[in-house]
Amino acid sequence: MAQTMRAIQIDTYGDESVVKFRTVPIPGIATDEVLVRLHYAGINFMDIHTRQGKYRTSRTYAVSVPTTLGMEGAGVIEAVGAKVEGLRPGQRVAYCLSWGTYADYAAVPAWRVVPLPDGIALPLAAAALFQGLTAHYLVHDVGRLGPSTTCLIHAASGATAQIMIQMAAARGATVLATTSTEEKAAVARTRGASHVFPYADFAERARAATQGRGVDVVLDAIGAPTFRESLRAIARKGLMVAYGSVGGSVRDIDPIELGEAGSIFLVRPRLADYSEDAATIRRRAGDVFDLLEDGKLTIDVAGVYDFADVLTAHRRLESRTMVGKPVLQIAV
Ligand SMILES: NC(=O)c1ccc[n+]([C@@H]2O[C@H](COP(=O)([O-])OP(=O)(O)OC[C@H]3O[C@@H](n4cnc5c(N)ncnc54)[C@H](OP(=O)(O)O)[C@@H]3O)[C@@H](O)[C@H]2O)c1
Repeated sequence: MAQTMRAIQIDTYGDESVVKFRTVPIPGIATDEVLVRLHYAGINFMDIHTRQGKYRTSRTYAVSVPTTLGMEGAGVIEAVGAKVEGLRPGQRVAYCLSWGTYADYAAVPAWRVVPLPDGIALPLAAAALFQGLTAHYLVHDVGRLGPSTTCLIHAASGATAQIMIQMAAARGATVLATTSTEEKAAVARTRGASHVFPYADFAERARAATQGRGVDVVLDAIGAPTFRESLRAIARKGLMVAYGSVGGSVRDIDPIELGEAGSIFLVRPRLADYSEDAATIRRRAGDVFDLLEDGKLTIDVAGVYDFADVLTAHRRLESRTMVGKPVLQIAV
């Protein structure tokens, strides 16, 4: 095995100019870690946010510089630490929320690693895990969506949103969705949304589609541009799930607004708190993989990018033209 590897790193936070392509030593592993030879990394908004320093004061996602970017990957176990049980070299695995996947190898806490069923290809695994686990906890545990519930999912062609639409519809919920183009709306309908509309006047449209009542749950990844109108789309005592802020953070909420909107509940959940141990991760991932293998869930790999082209993928995410989930090809 080689002693060095390629890695895409940052030493400081900032714009794209801080991203460095380097040759560095292959990491050693602690007794509770595994060394993964990465074949694909998931490419996420979180990687851009990491570069920009949005997690610099985060306790949930304590990422400090210098660091290797990327926190989702799929590959093959190369070595296991002395205390690791149930995992072995040669096993195909995926994981997320462990930084350093934009590299040939990564040392990963064993509890985060999920063995892959034979039917799940490595690029699909790299595209599926982070948003699959996220959609799973948002639909099942936070939104508690099921028969006789209605939800409104923003940015409906986004990677997380597409999975949520399918999971919510499969559980019998009525899914309303917003998106910015007709092409993206068609994707949302294919995934199972029964009403898809543009952002203009979406609260009014959501109320019209629910006989004036409003939806039980809004799932909002956009943030400031949609936050206040989302409150107006929600039924009395309903739930506002602010799970992302691709359009900018909400910084000025007064709790009285939740009261005025009809005693609305507001939550800003994070996957870390819903994937807190190996059993929870494997249970959620098992559900996602079962749905994929049974043909009940579709996850589009929106593009496979060469290692050198990672910033092209970041730019496409930011330009809002990506439909589905991009992955970075590492092993060739
Ligand atoms: N809380 C959690 O546990 C958790 C977990 C995973 C991801 N997230 C967050 O959820 C958000 C979405 O992630 P994702 O992977 O699903 O995203 P994605 O696939 O890249 O989708 C983003 C979509 O957001 C819409 N959008 C609206 N305003 C935008 C803007 N200013 N820039 C870019 N896109 C914009 C676009 O759809 P339209 O053109 O249709 O509007 C775009 O397709 C991110 O903020 C991510 O960090 C949170």
